[in-house]
Amino acid sequence: MYCILLLGYPSTNTSKQVRPTRRWCISQRCVIRKVPEPTLFLYTHTRPFPTVEKPLFEVSDFYRDRFAPHFHRTLELLPIPATNHLVMPPQFDVTPEKEGSISNFFYRQLSFTPDVVSGVSLAGKTAIVTGSNTGIGLEVSRQFLDLGVGRLILAVRNEDKGKAAAAGLSVGRDLKGSSIEVWKLDLDSYESVVAFADRAETLDRLDIAVLNAALVLTKHELNENTGHDETIQVNYLSTALLMALLVPVAKAKRANQDGPTRITLTSSDVCAWTSFKEKKSVPLFPEFDKPGNVNLADRMMVSKLLGQFFLAELAKRVPSSVAVINCATPGMVHDSEFNRQVDLTLAGKIAKVFMRRIGYTSPVGARHITDAAVKHGEETHGQYLSTQKLKPMAPIIYTDEGKKISEQLWKETMAELSFAKIEDLINEMSK
Ligand SMILES: NC(=O)c1ccc[n+]([C@@H]2O[C@H](COP(=O)([O-])OP(=O)(O)OC[C@H]3O[C@@H](n4cnc5c(N)ncnc54)[C@H](OP(=O)(O)O)[C@@H]3O)[C@@H](O)[C@H]2O)c1
Repeated sequence: MYCILLLGYPSTNTSKQVRPTRRWCISQRCVIRKVPEPTLFLYTHTRPFPTVEKPLFEVSDFYRDRFAPHFHRTLELLPIPATNHLVMPPQFDVTPEKEGSISNFFYRQLSFTPDVVSGVSLAGKTAIVTGSNTGIGLEVSRQFLDLGVGRLILAVRNEDKGKAAAAGLSVGRDLKGSSIEVWKLDLDSYESVVAFADRAETLDRLDIAVLNAALVLTKHELNENTGHDETIQVNYLSTALLMALLVPVAKAKRANQDGPTRITLTSSDVCAWTSFKEKKSVPLFPEFDKPGNVNLADRMMVSKLLGQFFLAELAKRVPSSVAVINCATPGMVHDSEFNRQVDLTLAGKIAKVFMRRIGYTSPVGARHITDAAVKHGEETHGQYLSTQKLKPMAPIIYTDEGKKISEQLWKETMAELSFAKIEDLINEMSK
């Protein structure tokens, strides 16, 4: 399988020059390299030529940096647009509709057990895991330690709980070559997110960040600081802010590490299940903030779906040579504290009986997240993983309606987070 880079002007000539070969083949117009996936990169000039009038796809910085020495003359001529670090979308082995169906979800839960993540050394590497005092985040942290991570940062809102988690993670473990730190991060507060990102700038390196913290509520609440719906605030807005703020950190640390930072968002199968009744509202956020009777299970699902929309947009603007940004579902996990409020209700108690039968334990569910963070490369940039494989995101993402929502959400998110100059920071990444 071959990666083909076309530089210059497409012409009938160019196609003649494209010959698969095992070795680098560099001509004035094309480079062919063996790669694991069938991937086509096209890079073209804006100048009109016979068949194409505008730029097609841009090669990712990763490839541009590599090939620049060979193409210095050509590259000088080529304007590089700020967006569209486009790698051809992966060929999924399932449609978004099938992947997102409830029957397929049950099938996965009953038939698939993720592999223990092995064959990777995290020695000397630095990893952050948010929401790591309990549940899936705690188990991802444990799995990172099992893989020898050098510096593990537990990002938690309650430092006492974080210290207890750190003590638990240390039991029976020789921590020579590893350290565990507890850093405060409260997603209820933008201030706390910004302070956390500022502190992350002091790290020597940032190899992995797992953005895992989230909640589900049983009573509709508005965030005290922002007035936004609390579920949207924690699961989406503050998480998006953190993700965006970690990108410049990743860029700053790139020279100190042997690869791009991996940013993995803990996503969910439920992204495909939400009715997303607010989807036609322009603007979107005020619709979430309206008081009244809110279906809070659906609100949680929407908040996770917004995360997929945001991640896909962000990845278009951030070269995978700076950060490989992906998301993954842990599947249904029955023994974390996610449903701590729901479990107190009668419906929650009944659901728990059923969840115990088909849900994973946290250590097993966490393998999906560890896998997404350490076992995959830039082919997962802007993508979603389930069952330790690339799978389509929620079906709505691929529709025309989804594209409009995505643009709207991006615009509103940039405006909401303008106090942190997020848009400028992201635009800087393309330079
Ligand atoms: N459980 C499942 O079946 C399931 C399925 C799919 C996806 N997921 C996703 O998996 C992730 C982890 O969930 P889990 O099941 O492990 O739940 P969990 O045991 O409740 O863990 C959630 C973590 O998020 C933290 N958190 C909540 N609100 C926060 C805030 N305002 N600021 C900072 N941290 C906050 C919690 O801290 P405190 O302990 O201090 O509250 C906790 O550490 C979530 O993103 C969830 O959406 C879970």
